[in-house]
Amino acid sequence: MRSKAITCALVVLGLAGAAASDARAGDLVEFFVVGNGIPEYLSGQPGDPERGRAVAIQRKKGNCLACHKMPIPDQQYHGEVGPDLAGVGSRMPESELRLRIVNPKIANPATMMPAFYRVDGLHRVGKAFQGKTILTPQEVEDVVAYLKTLTDDT
Ligand code: HEC
Repeated sequence: MRSKAITCALVVLGLAGAAASDARAGDLVEFFVVGNGIPEYLSGQPGDPERGRAVAIQRKKGNCLACHKMPIPDQQYHGEVGPDLAGVGSRMPESELRLRIVNPKIANPATMMPAFYRVDGLHRVGKAFQGKTILTPQEVEDVVAYLKTLTDDT
């Protein structure tokens, strides 16, 4: 199943030439951008929405509430820099949600939203964080799984 999906991504890459491969040095996993999205799980397996919700709230992890209003009433502070994420699971397909978390600058170079899975091009990175991504591949998948639950029906 998984190998079939990978083959598809590679075929799209070869035929359309529209995709970019993003292999990096170190421990970073390789992923493929197809169109506006990343169709494959970064960690090779689906994420857990409960864990993703926790990652989104944590200030040293997702810290999404710094910029986004989210349907999480037990958290007091919600930012307004970015769009309200309520219903985002209905607005955007999973592959686009994944790209937004991994590196939103691929979709919008001018965005101020941080890239949660990329090590280069960051400024003033504290020593403890040098060479590290903000989220692990599994945490990226957990956040994506959580965002998918934020549909218009919830
Ligand atoms: C520093 C501010 C900031 C942080 C932190 C941030 N974002 Fe964003 N985000 C934005 C802005 C601004 C946009 C608007 C689109 C753009 O700039 O590309 C956006 C857009 C989005 C979108 C697209 C929404 C739509 O309706 O088009 C999603 C999904 C998203 N963010 C999810 C997240 C998640 C999940 C987190 C936490 C892991 C997060 N963001 C953290 C600023 C931020």
